Order: sequence, then structure tokens, then C-alpha cells
Amino acid sequence: MRIIEKVCEMQEVADTWRSEREKIAIVPTMGFLHEGHLSLLRTARKLGTKCVITIFVNPTQFAPTEDFESYPRDLRKDIELAAEIGTDAAFVPTIEEMYPEGFQTFVEVTRVTQNLCGASRPIFFRGVATVVSKLFHAVKPHVAVFGQKDFQQLVAVRRMVRDLNMDIEIVGQPIVREKDGLAMSSRNAYLRAEERPVALRLSRSLQLARELVGSGEVSGAAILKTVNDCLTAGGGARVDYAKLCNPDTIEEVQTVEGPTLLALAVWVGKTRLIDNCVLGG
Ligand code: PAF
Repeated sequence: MRIIEKVCEMQEVADTWRSEREKIAIVPTMGFLHEGHLSLLRTARKLGTKCVITIFVNPTQFAPTEDFESYPRDLRKDIELAAEIGTDAAFVPTIEEMYPEGFQTFVEVTRVTQNLCGASRPIFFRGVATVVSKLFHAVKPHVAVFGQKDFQQLVAVRRMVRDLNMDIEIVGQPIVREKDGLAMSSRNAYLRAEERPVALRLSRSLQLARELVGSGEVSGAAILKTVNDCLTAGGGARVDYAKLCNPDTIEEVQTVEGPTLLALAVWVGKTRLIDNCVLGG
């Protein structure tokens, strides 16, 4: 697997591949890879003839109060894991390479980013949209694979690609879970042993909501009451949001009639966890 740090080298490799009619698939990540990332890479390998992982902890999507410094990193292990899957290249730029002196251009997706994580983390999606566009310009992919755990991020990236006429297919992949139901996330590494049972309430509450909807419940208030009760029973969790939204616009809805996104963000100790499912689909 080729390891590339410079944008211009990545662009040259991409140009060569494109001239040889290769189909380039990208998986953008912030590293500290887990099975969720590996499943995205496996999908990318199937969709493209050349597969590129990008590993970059992007400072512009973290507020000063957030965990940029402490975000878990293990580049050597990431490279080993990506190579085992048959990834062709890892693009691992430095901060200076991505944001050189004088950098001042940002990409903003304005509406689908207002609610949910955009409300709690106001600079997050501007950072994501900016870095994803930059990664796309470096890697020149035909197809990009993202996880549905970051559902709103996937919607925002799709919107950006459409709005800016980027000729890239965006593919979403289902959430990968631990055996106990916890959605895989690099941030799970922050959880202390005693916090794990509290963290499991996220997937449990999604399951309860699915069961309620399965039994005919359509009232958003009733579903969210069950979800919030499950999340908070026993203490140890602070709900940032638990909302029902239209999965295309990310606007809140009051009833579950047709596919409805149930999105959660919950603080368990110092760890902010997100999870979601689409109800009524
Ligand atoms: O989902 C992530 O890991 C990040 O937000 C992304 C898309 C790699 C941009 O930094």
C-alpha cells in the first residue's frame, strides 16, 4: 500500500489511475480504525478498482473546547489494517499540508446542518464539508463511501456534492455494531468499564422505538418519551438530543409516517456518543 502525505503526489497518482481508466473509491476517516471503517474499505474495494483511505484528524471540525488533542490516534496500526484489506493508498496529510499559512476558504452546507449535531456543534459541518471537498480534490475519486452512523454528515456530504456539481457517487453504509449493540466509534475508546452499560442504552432505546413503531405507534411524543426514559433511567447519561426528523431534510417531525430518522446524541461521562436508526421505512 502506498503512503502519501502530499496533496500534489496524491493528485499525480489519481491522474495516472484515471488515465488508465481505473475507478477510484475513497474512504475518508480520522483514523483509529475499527471494524466499521474496515467494512467501508471492503465496500470501497468492491465499488472501485483502486481504493484510497484518507487518515486525517481534521482540526477545523473541532471547537476549541472539544477533543481534538485527545482524539485517539494510531497511524501505524491503521496503516497495517488498511493494507491487510488490500487498500491501494493511504493519504495521510499533515495539518500544514491541508491548511497552509493563509488558508481562508470554507465550504458551508446551510440547511441540513442546522439541526442535531449542527445545533450542538456549530462549526462541525463547516469543517467537515471543507475537509471532505479538499480530500475529494486531492484523491479525485469516482465514488466515496461514508458510514450511516454519522447520518447527518452523510446527508450534508450528499447535498454538497449535488450543489457543487461534484462528479462523485456517494455511498452510505449501515452502522456496524459491537456484539452488545454499541455502535462502533473511535470515541468508544474513551468509555470507562463502568460507563459501558450506560452507553448500551443508546442502541437499546432505538430498539424500543422500533418495537413501538412496529406495534403501530405513530406519535413522536410517545416514542421520544420511551427513548428518553430508557436513556436516562439509572442516571449516568445526559441527553444532548433525541429527535425524530425527516431523513432527507433533517427537519423535525411530530409523527412517524413514512421513513423517519431517530437520531441520538448522549453524553456518557466525558464521551459524546451518537447513534440513529430509520423508523417506519
Ligand atoms: O466521519 C469522519 O471520520 C470525519 O468527519 C470525516 C468525514 C473523515 C471528515 O473529517
